[in-house]
This record gives sequence, C-alpha cells and structure tokens, in this order.
Amino acid sequence: MKRGLFISIEGPDGSGKSTQIRLLKEFLDESGLEAILTREPGGTVISEKIRQLILDKQHTEMDPMTEALLYAASRAQHVAEVIKPAIKTGKTVICDRFVDSSIAYQGYGRQLGDAVRIINEYAVAGCMPDITFLLKVEPSIGKERIKEEEQDRLEKEKLDFHNAVFQGYLDLERIYKDRIIGIDAAKDIDAISNEIILHIRKILNADNLE
Ligand code: TYD
Repeated sequence: MKRGLFISIEGPDGSGKSTQIRLLKEFLDESGLEAILTREPGGTVISEKIRQLILDKQHTEMDPMTEALLYAASRAQHVAEVIKPAIKTGKTVICDRFVDSSIAYQGYGRQLGDAVRIINEYAVAGCMPDITFLLKVEPSIGKERIKEEEQDRLEKEKLDFHNAVFQGYLDLERIYKDRIIGIDAAKDIDAISNEIILHIRKILNADNLE
C-alpha cells in the first residue's frame, strides 16, 4: 500500500491557519482522499493533557526548557499514536503546527536555540512532513486578530517574543526551502487556498511517495 501524504500548516498566532486547514480538508474530501485533521500540541488523549499543562495561563513560572520538552513529549506521543499509523495506512494527515512551531517559538522565541531541533529529532523519530505551508503575517497584525481574553499563555507574550518567533519562521523557510512553502497571509482567503491546493495537486500528481 502507498503511504499517505503528511502536510503541516504553520504560522504565527492569528495567521488564519484554521480557515486554510478547513478549506484544504474540503478539497481532499472532494478528491476522494481519506484525510485526517490533527493539531499540536494535542491530537491524542495524553498530548491533550500535556497541552492543558503548557497553555494554562496560570503556569507563568514554567521554565523554557520544561516548555520545550513538554511540546516535544506531546509530539512524540502524537507521532507514535496518530501520525505514523495514519500515513502508513495511506491516509493523508493535515497537522495544525508541527516541529517548526517548536523551533520558532522555543528555539527563537524562548532563545533555546539548536537544543530544540535536537530534542525534536528524538520526538519525531524520522517522521517529517512532506510539505509545510507557512502563513506569514507580521506579528503586530497577527496578535491584533486574537481577543485579549482568548489569548493563551504563549499568545500573551510580548511583541518582542512574537517578532523573534516570526524571524525563526523566516529562517526555517530559507533553510528548508524544498519543504516549506511561505505564503503571504495578507492575501485573500481564496487566493491562499488556491495556492495551497495547487501545491498539493502537484505532489499528488508526481505520485512518488514511498
Ligand atoms: P493554539 O491554541 O493551538 O494556537 P493556534 O491556533 O495559534 O495554533 O495554541 C498553540 C500555541 O502553542 C501557539 O501559541 C503556538 C504554541 N506552540 C509552541 O510554542 N511550540 C510548539 O511546538 C507548538 C506546537 C505550539
């Protein structure tokens, strides 16, 4: 059996990921591809519990390395329990955030640097997305799109933190240019969706998943 495609969607908070994920899922459904939608941190019972721990607004004392390890722990479980089995059985996986989020938020935002990439090499155990869409929006604009009372612990961080995260994403886009497709999130919803679908069609037509 041919393995499924692994797609991740990335971007700063407020970049419009959720809308694009919904539209991509609709496209895959219409194309008759069995696709599952999942998210990080989360996606399994254990990972959702870790998610609550990380995003709790009251946990202001959380050490950056604790945070990075918890994201990685949540990811390890998610990969083992959901992503790997799904891909193996030919399903397409759309993941709302994956390892690039850790590198951008913990590596750049929390300034943990390359340690984050190394920790996550263990967490993903060789399972990396085939393609990643990075929705690019200036942090000052992205932050405005989320209501103050709805912001979680990470979203509540200062603009400096979000600027560093954004810089991380831009660096990743440059380093992994074959995998990461950067898209200007200021464009209108349909234009962005069409761009994403075009890339997916190309990969599916190339038909070279092993
Ligand atoms: P979520 O509510 O899923 O936000 P969004 O809708 O923007 O994806 O919360 C996830 C938060 O966790 C978000 O602020 C980004 C952050 N995050 C990290 O810092 N590191 C990670 O590895 C992941 C997956 C998320």
